[in-house]
Amino acid sequence: MKSKVRISADDKIVVLTGAGISAESGLRTFRDHNGLWDQYKIEEVATPQAFSNNPELVWEFYKLRYDQLGQVFPNPGHLALVELELRIKDNFTLITQNVDGLHGIAGNKNILEIHGSLREIICINCRTKFKFTEIDMGGKIPLCLKCGGNLRPDVVWFGEIPYYLDKIDALLSTADYFLVVGTSGSVYPAAQFLQISKQYGAYTVGVNFDKPDNLVYLDEFHQGKSGEILPQLIDIWLGEHE
Ligand code: OAD
Ligand code: ZN
Repeated sequence: MKSKVRISADDKIVVLTGAGISAESGLRTFRDHNGLWDQYKIEEVATPQAFSNNPELVWEFYKLRYDQLGQVFPNPGHLALVELELRIKDNFTLITQNVDGLHGIAGNKNILEIHGSLREIICINCRTKFKFTEIDMGGKIPLCLKCGGNLRPDVVWFGEIPYYLDKIDALLSTADYFLVVGTSGSVYPAAQFLQISKQYGAYTVGVNFDKPDNLVYLDEFHQGKSGEILPQLIDIWLGEHE
């Protein structure tokens, strides 16, 4: 493997991840063959309208996600990003579209979960937040422990505004390197971060199993599984072998 990147402690790196980085942990992606959107329609389970029209169906979809959540663990791709953060500390930011919380469990600290997290559940009535492990998922719709209102996963649905967009704009404008991993580059606004960082002058690197939709904005592309590629790539970046 070859890469032009060598990291020093004052380089600013922004990483963007998507479902592909968690594939080797055993979580299905959305748009790959047999992905989640083959089985469910986005508009029926991942929009605010869906939740007001048919919360049972939305919860049917999310209960399957919660069943898996307790059984999955970070893979070598996640761990490689921890090594990178340990080296450059506050100059590292990890933006993730994933709601599985695996980056935090792996040990990354500076994480922006722009689509929220399945690990938090929020009451649509009184806005109290709970850890997913506190909630009884036995009924058709899990209910708030405080007020009895309907609960929903604290994730961003289509038609809702992702978190941290202001902060991200500032980060993209100052990044020296932008690394994008395991995302098809098809969901906005995240799909645009690559192009924006490149226009601001970052050197851009992609790691993905398939060619992403926004390939033209990558200075370097490493095709394959992130759990295999990232550990080697980041070793090279940190000067641990050539
Ligand atoms: P997608 O399912 O659209 O794309 C996953 C990408 O990961 C594909 O391009 C695969 O080629 C790649 N991939 C699969 N296995 C991989 C592996 N082992 N290593 C590296 N890459 C691999 O998922 P996202 O781009 O994350 O939003 O989807 C973005 C958003 O769309 C999600 O956050 C979710 C979804 O609808 C909401 O729910 C709001
Ligand atoms: Zn409540």
